[in-house]
Amino acid sequence: MPDVTLTTLQSLKQNGEKIAMLTCYDATYAHAACQAGVDVLLVGDSLGMVLQGHDSTLPVSVEEMAYHTACVKRGNQGALIVTDLPFMAYATTEQALHNSAKLMQAGAHMVKLEGAGWLAEPIHLLAERGVPVCAHLGLTPQAVNILGGYKVQGRQEAQARQMRADAMALEQAGAAMLLLECVPSELAAEITQAVKIPVIGIGAGSATDGQVLVQHDMLGLSLSGRAPKFVRNFMEGQSSIQGAFSAYVQAVKDGSFPAAEHGFSA
Ligand code: KIV
Repeated sequence: MPDVTLTTLQSLKQNGEKIAMLTCYDATYAHAACQAGVDVLLVGDSLGMVLQGHDSTLPVSVEEMAYHTACVKRGNQGALIVTDLPFMAYATTEQALHNSAKLMQAGAHMVKLEGAGWLAEPIHLLAERGVPVCAHLGLTPQAVNILGGYKVQGRQEAQARQMRADAMALEQAGAAMLLLECVPSELAAEITQAVKIPVIGIGAGSATDGQVLVQHDMLGLSLSGRAPKFVRNFMEGQSSIQGAFSAYVQAVKDGSFPAAEHGFSA
């Protein structure tokens, strides 16, 4: 068992203490992130973009996610490991069960699924069978071709209403955690208040129970040379990656990251 469990995350939420989550893809960085006090390591399918150089997360396979999960597990020192089920790996409930088993056996403690209300069924079945699930709402990068780009979600009232309802339905179905990506800060705050499970944000303002960033973004590394608005470069003022990770954890824990300028309005 990791030192950080679902119970730890629940108590952090209840006590109003922020959760620091960071993407991670290998053993050495997992070790460094744990030394810095990161609570949750996310083996994100963002690895398709930042490690493999694709222009989306769609080409990533379950085998690649399992490989990187096993690498992260070897360097982990007590953090909770969450791994993304990649594009089309949970298109049917059978696939969701089969592929989640592969990721859990590789070392994940929780899997993350992108979607909306339709995730209720796979979440319910996975939770019943011992697999904790994080539901990813808002900007869901695997659906970039439907969304028409990497855009803020939930700005229109009907969309916002639907996202609130989805969040509550997925908690009801058994989701252990929610992740909100690129959602107006006010809507993210309302959802965080409305559910009992921890809510992690990325581009979702400061009121969520925790924050996540893609490791390469927060280290100031990018293939395009352009960082998204919600990113802060934590290498600034630091002389080492270890220092940047520690500065990130401290800023999340003391609430100084994200600042208002990192969020989106409705
Ligand atoms: O794949 C990933 O890294 C993610 C984050 C953007 C939250 O899902």
